[in-house]
Parts: sequence; C-alpha cells; structure tokens
Amino acid sequence: MTYAERVQRAPIKEDPVILGIESSCDETAAAVIRGRTLLSSVILSSAAEQAKYGGVVPEIASRAHTEAIGEAVERALREADIAPCQLDAVAVTYGAGLLGALLVGLSFAKAYAFALGIPLIGVDHIRGHMAAAYLTDASLEPPFVTLLASGGHTAVIYTKNYTEFEIMGSTRDDAAGEAFDKAARVLGLPYPGGPNIEKLAKEGRAVIPFPKMFAGGGYDFSYSGLKTAVINYCHNKAQSGESYSRADVAASFQNAACSVLAERAVAAAKAKGADTIAAGGGVIANGFLRDLLAEKCAGAGLRLVLPEKKYCTDNAAMIAAEGLIQYRAGHFADLSLNACAHIPLGKKGKQ
Ligand code: KG4
Ligand code: ZN
Repeated sequence: MTYAERVQRAPIKEDPVILGIESSCDETAAAVIRGRTLLSSVILSSAAEQAKYGGVVPEIASRAHTEAIGEAVERALREADIAPCQLDAVAVTYGAGLLGALLVGLSFAKAYAFALGIPLIGVDHIRGHMAAAYLTDASLEPPFVTLLASGGHTAVIYTKNYTEFEIMGSTRDDAAGEAFDKAARVLGLPYPGGPNIEKLAKEGRAVIPFPKMFAGGGYDFSYSGLKTAVINYCHNKAQSGESYSRADVAASFQNAACSVLAERAVAAAKAKGADTIAAGGGVIANGFLRDLLAEKCAGAGLRLVLPEKKYCTDNAAMIAAEGLIQYRAGHFADLSLNACAHIPLGKKGKQ
C-alpha cells in the first residue's frame, strides 16, 4: 500500500493526537496535543549561541536544529506519555522562516509521517501564532479579533471562523518585534532585543514623548518613525555630550510601541462588534503590553485570551494547534511539500 493510500484509510478522529514540529528560526520545538489539550511542549533553543553574533545566523540555526530535532521529538512524546503508534498526524511549520532551518523540521516530519502512515500537515508559522489562543482557552470559538505581533508581522485580524480571516490592518513598514530589536541595538542591548528592552524599561519611566504612530485612520501600524525617533534621540544626546537615561528610553519606547497595539485591537473589536480579543506572537510575551491589554479590554467589556508567555514566542504547541484546525478541515499535505521562506499574510492555507 502506498503512503497516500494508507493516509486515505487512516480514521479521522474527533480529538486526534497530533505531534507538532517547529524549526523556522532558532528554536527547535516539538509538542503533542490531544484535541485541544496540550500534553507536552519541548523547546530547545540556540539563542545563546546566536547571541554571540548579535542575531540569528542561518547556518548555525540549521545545524543546531539537526542536532536537536531528535531529542525534542523524543522528549515531547515521552512527556506526553504517547508512543509514536498512537499519533494520528504530524503537523510541521513549512514557512515562513529560514529555508535551511525549516527544511530540518520538514524533512523530519515527512519521514515520521511516512514511517507511521499518518497524515502530514503543513502549517503556516503565523497561523500557528494565531492558533496558540485555542490551547489557552478551550472554549474559545470564532469570531473574534486577533492581535498578532511577532518579529516579522504586526496585524489586527478578524478571525471569522477557523479557516477564514480578514486582515483589518497591518504594519506598513517594520513589525513591532523588529522595532523592539532595532531599539535594543541602539541601546546596546544584546539579542534578543524584546525581552532585554522589557527588563531595562522596568528601571525607567516613560517620560520621553516618542511619536506613537502615524495619525492615519484605520488599523494599520507604522514603526519606522518611532525607530528613527529613538535613534535620533540617542545620537543627539551623544553628540551634544548630554547624559540620558537608557532605561527611560526603553520605557518610553515600550510605552509608545505597545499602546498603539492595544488601542488598535480594542478599536477593531468594537468595530466588528466582537466580544473577544485573542493575541499571539513574540511581542505578546511583553508584560507591559499584557497588562495594558488586560486593562483596556476590561475597560471595554471585552474578553481577552492571552496565551502564556512561552506560547507567544516560538513553540510547537501552537503548530500542533493549527495542525488540529487543518486536520479537521481535511487539509493534508503530500510528501512533496517544500519549505517556503515567505508566506504573505492572509494567504489561504497551502495543500
Ligand atoms: O513570534 P516570535 O517568537 O518569532 C517570529 O515569528 O517572529 O517573535 C520574535 C519577536 C522578536 O522581535 C522579539 O524581540 C520579540 O518577539 N519579543 C518581545 C518579547 N519577547 C520576544 N518583544 C517585546 N517584549 C518581549 N518580552
Ligand atoms: Zn514566531
């Protein structure tokens, strides 16, 4: 029997056991879910190695994935107390991300699915970030508004149902995470920038009036003006020999970068008459932003679904969660699925 025939004959279950695999950047991650219940999540990161170079070096990331993927999957299965033969599908990130890094996870997932004769599901990494909220709150059902803020994307999305989305607004230039990383570099903070800005900001006050965002209506974002304002502020102070508080710069930047995210998300929910905001992506791990979102949602009578911090940054639980959506929609990949460096936001699922 061919692989395709075995997949066709595999029973479709209501609450399948899915192995998720993620290797798009510097985290090698594996997780197991049963339905919407998370059974295990393992993340092996090469971030400490990458920090020596000030950012992710693709070649180092690929090699680190090759070394870590076997251990990540074995640990995820062991912690979930699941044997490979109990798996119903393998979901893997096929893009967007670093090609060499993606290919490690993708090739591993294909081999695993092929050997077990179970469906392979290709997951768009960003859809994964958006799906993390489904594991946080098992009762979450569309429609709702999703605030997505990662290293490459910033958007307010109307999640109509499990597979249909309307991009209400997105960034016109830098993504929020990118802005955090660039501001961190200006302040001489090591990679990864976001968490380090958050830490420094705790010692400062948001007293510098950095521009929040362009004044245009709608739900779009723009971070290049804010980034330039931070660069100019620091350079001008340095050139004129004036001392300044790096912690105040961090706090003021964080305040400007985060308030617009929270404001746009709440405004979008009101416009759609939605009663819930769900969030995802690395920047949503920011404590200041989480508090702000909680405060603004409470003020507007909105329910907020915030994944735990470790499920906002890259992980495989979210890939398994999106895998479940694709499984239920019957979207399976074949063994020719290739890695994709870029996937436009709003693109309909592959396969
Ligand atoms: O979602 P993610 O882990 O990877 C992408 O898919 O891009 O997001 C990474 C981004 C980085 O820019 C990182 O600086 C930012 O998320 N980030 C944070 C925090 N943790 C990660 N930004 C602000 N505060 C944080 N605590
Ligand atoms: Zn990510």
